Formats: sequence, C-alpha cells, structure tokens
Amino acid sequence: MSAKIIDGKQVAARVREELAGLVAQRIEQGGSQPHLAAVLVGDDPASAVYVRNKERACAKVGMKSTLIKLPRETSQSELLELVASLNADASVNGILVQLPLPPQINEVDVLDSISPLKDVDCFHPENVGLMMQGRPRFLPCTPHGCQELLIDSGTIVAGAHAVVLGRSEIVGKPMAALLVQKGAGANATVTIAHSRTQNLAEITRQADILVAAIGKPEFVTADMVKPGAVVIDVGINRVGDKLVGDVDFEAVSQVASAITPVPGGVGPMTIAMLIKNTLRAAEIQTGTSS
Ligand SMILES: NC(=O)c1ccc[n+]([C@@H]2O[C@H](COP(=O)([O-])OP(=O)(O)OC[C@H]3O[C@@H](n4cnc5c(N)ncnc54)[C@H](OP(=O)(O)O)[C@@H]3O)[C@@H](O)[C@H]2O)c1
Repeated sequence: MSAKIIDGKQVAARVREELAGLVAQRIEQGGSQPHLAAVLVGDDPASAVYVRNKERACAKVGMKSTLIKLPRETSQSELLELVASLNADASVNGILVQLPLPPQINEVDVLDSISPLKDVDCFHPENVGLMMQGRPRFLPCTPHGCQELLIDSGTIVAGAHAVVLGRSEIVGKPMAALLVQKGAGANATVTIAHSRTQNLAEITRQADILVAAIGKPEFVTADMVKPGAVVIDVGINRVGDKLVGDVDFEAVSQVASAITPVPGGVGPMTIAMLIKNTLRAAEIQTGTSS
C-alpha cells in the first residue's frame, strides 16, 4: 500500500484564502485591520524562521503584524512589562511570545500574563479550560491544524481509536482534548501515550488515527502502525541539513492509508490556525464575533 499524502501546504493555502476574504470584508465594513504582535527573545535561528513565517502569513491575508525583538539577556520583568503594554494597546489584537524563552525567564509566568482575549496561541489556562469544557474561545493552533487535516482528508474520526503519542501542554494534551470532544473531527476514543507508557508499539498498533508529537526523529516505524491507519506527524527535527518528522515517512507510507509529510504537513496548518485565531481575537475585541 502507498499512503495518500495529506498536503498541509495546500490545505493551509486554502484556509488563508478564506481568511483573506474575511479580513477584506471586515475592513470594507469599517472594521480595523487585525494585528498580531510577535515577541522574539534571543537569536535562536529556528525561532526566527517560525516568526518570519508567521509574519509572512499575516501579510498574505492582509493582516498587520509587528515583530518585537528583544536581546537574549532580557529579564523576566522586562518581558512582563512588554506583555503588559501589548495587553493595554487597543491596536494589538493577538500576542504571540515565541518559545522557547531563555533560561532566566519563566515561560509559564509570561504566558499566563498574556490577556486571555489576546492569547492567540491558546496557552492561557482560562482558554485551555474553556477548550476542555467544549466551549472554546480559541483553539490551540497545532492540534486544531491536525484536526482540520483529518477533516479535510475525509478521515472518519467519530468512533475511531486515536492514539496521541506525546503529552506536552502545547501539542499532546490539547490534541487529545480536541479529539475527544463532541463535534466535527472529534468524538474519537482517545489514548495518550508518553515516555512512561509500557508496550508502546502494542498501543500504537491499535490506532486508527496516530498523532505523533514526541520530538524524536523517525521514531514511529512501520511495525508500530496498523495497516490502513491515518498518521499525523507533528514532529519537526533537524537531522543534518534535513527536516524530518517523528515518523519514518518512507516505511510508514507503505502501511498507512494516509500520512502527513514533514515539511509541508502540520507546520503550515499551525500558522494558518494562528492567523484564524488572530482574526477571531479582533472580532471578539470589537464585539463582532458570531
Ligand atoms: N508542526 C508544528 O507546527 C509543531 C508545533 C509544535 C511542536 N512541533 C514539534 O512536535 C514535536 C513535539 O513537540 P512538543 O512540544 O510536544 O515536545 P515535548 O514538550 O518535548 O513533549 C514530547 C512528548 O513526547 C514524549 N516522549 C518523548 N520520548 C518518548 C518516547 N521515547 N516514547 C514515548 N513518548 C515519548 C514525552 O513524554 P514525557 O511527557 O513522559 O516526557 C512528551 O510528552 C517536536 O518535534 C516539535 O518540534 C511541531
């Protein structure tokens, strides 16, 4: 079997096109141009690339973005002050603090300080709580992007056994939470696996849908995948000068019925969902959300 490739780049381009239409409509009707403020602390090259891609995506849909670059040695109180000023700035709709932050800064304190109404990454505990309760203000970008890929590829999620490999706050846990909700692209029976899981391959082999988010290059091998499963590879790992996922793409493609590539799978969708959240933030703040 050779799996169908789930083309995240193509789906993300379509989502951006829809969003561009909504942004143009908003502006035509006298609304403000949605505005994302991105904060980059330090000079991590991968973070710089992610932020640049997010800025480009804003430009493509007609949104404004502002990049605030701070030196590596920025203190926690300086960063908290900046976030407070962005919270208070009515012209800013969404705030994104690119992770990871330098070790002198407590990430949780900083993320908690972002106004929940401007928390377009959906990391704030208030937004995570609302999402868990099935009444989301925002949806977390990477898991939401994965869910959209499942829907777009025609995967039947309701009643399927989904195994999420990884339990991070950013990907694994919210991914499992979205898949178990009532609604489109959800209603799955969900298992979460992690580094303490025993007999991992036995569990992943039960998955109709396998989401890999562990940060280990090509960790998921063909013998860990049930024939016909849909495999969503969230991993982004640099190996030499190549980017690879958490799944052995070549081998698993021979077993799965559909699979996302790396790059060009989940990554572009994460950014598209961030843009979607920024428009939603603008709508919420101006009382125009439906
Ligand atoms: N495509 C995108 O847009 C996007 C967005 C975010 C992240 N990513 C990528 O996705 C990957 C995961 O990111 P993350 O932030 O979730 O990573 P993370 O915070 O490092 O979490 C990794 C998770 O994988 C589990 N794990 C590690 N080794 C394992 C093993 N041998 N067997 C089973 N479970 C194992 C860990 O278990 P424990 O909890 O027990 O330690 C942890 O829950 C990374 O490659 C990251 O770059 C991509």
